[in-house]
Amino acid sequence: MSEANRSLTLSCIGAGRAGKTLCKLFTDHQCQFDISIQQIINRTLASASEAVSFIGQGLPAENFENLKPADIWLILTPDDEIAAVSQRLSLSAVLRQGDIVLHCSGSLSSQILYPSGDNHYRASVHPIHSFANPENSLDDFSGTACAVEGDPYATAILTELFSAIGGQCFALKADKKTLYHAATVMACNNLISLLSLSQQMLEAAGVDSATGDNLFQPLIENTLKNYFRSDGVEALTGPISRGDSKTVEAHIDSLKEHPDWQGVYSSLGEVAVSLATQQGYASKEQLKTISNLLDRAKHHE
Ligand SMILES: NC(=O)c1ccc[n+]([C@@H]2O[C@H](COP(=O)([O-])OP(=O)(O)OC[C@H]3O[C@@H](n4cnc5c(N)ncnc54)[C@H](OP(=O)(O)O)[C@@H]3O)[C@@H](O)[C@H]2O)c1
Repeated sequence: MSEANRSLTLSCIGAGRAGKTLCKLFTDHQCQFDISIQQIINRTLASASEAVSFIGQGLPAENFENLKPADIWLILTPDDEIAAVSQRLSLSAVLRQGDIVLHCSGSLSSQILYPSGDNHYRASVHPIHSFANPENSLDDFSGTACAVEGDPYATAILTELFSAIGGQCFALKADKKTLYHAATVMACNNLISLLSLSQQMLEAAGVDSATGDNLFQPLIENTLKNYFRSDGVEALTGPISRGDSKTVEAHIDSLKEHPDWQGVYSSLGEVAVSLATQQGYASKEQLKTISNLLDRAKHHE
């Protein structure tokens, strides 16, 4: 495949929610590479045909027989299937020198793809986007951050392709992919867990919202606004920021019947101590006292 040839063919194995959306976006937003969809391979022909009609291009297939060559192979099966599917693709002998094989998993690197030898190029591109509704994603994808890693030749072309559909591409090292994914879970999934835990604590305190409204909603929304409007550090308020060790001690005591809640409170409190140190409102001595209280609570002393 030469960059002088601006027409690229793309086949997708696993055109579900993410796959069919990306294929449609690639064909709708042409860039220096003119993408045409070759084959759409799903587990069932019915599903592949449905994806083809959504995309408006491509030939549906339900197995790896009669695969046609393509410049780019997008593997968008569930994560657990990617390695086996890429092995089957390699063994099918359809891959040519210089073809690109990629997946879009957030937790796996391109190393999971069947080794290329001197043959094809491997990459992974993780769009930080929820493809729950493909129709909506066609409108909402633009502005999505995309983590790109893999062989330089492949990442250069894929960065161009994903940028053309509105992706904000950034480079990631293969051996840091899992840590990167843990960070996304911390920001997204664990945030939900934390908000849910705060509701349980509120209920344990006897506060029962009769209307079903979340009493913390304005506080949470305001805090998030402050976080994104600041450098992150200045958004911290509350007893640790002020150095109020007696308040922290009382909180820890109030949680003694819930060691699991106490553990979360203490671990996150230690992160807050580090932020408060950077802020400089509380003295070193106050923060040391708080740090000791949190450490003892974490170890249930
Ligand atoms: N969804 C998201 O929000 C999102 C976001 C970022 C990254 N991703 C990544 O995108 C990938 C796909 O996720 P998804 O949510 O789009 O999955 P999905 O909606 O469940 O779609 C998976 C597709 O893979 C097909 N498939 C499964 N096993 C196959 C096999 N052995 N051979 C061929 N096709 C096979 C399925 O075919 P049938 O329809 O015939 O069953 C289905 O069309 C994953 O790696 C995921 O981590 C997803």
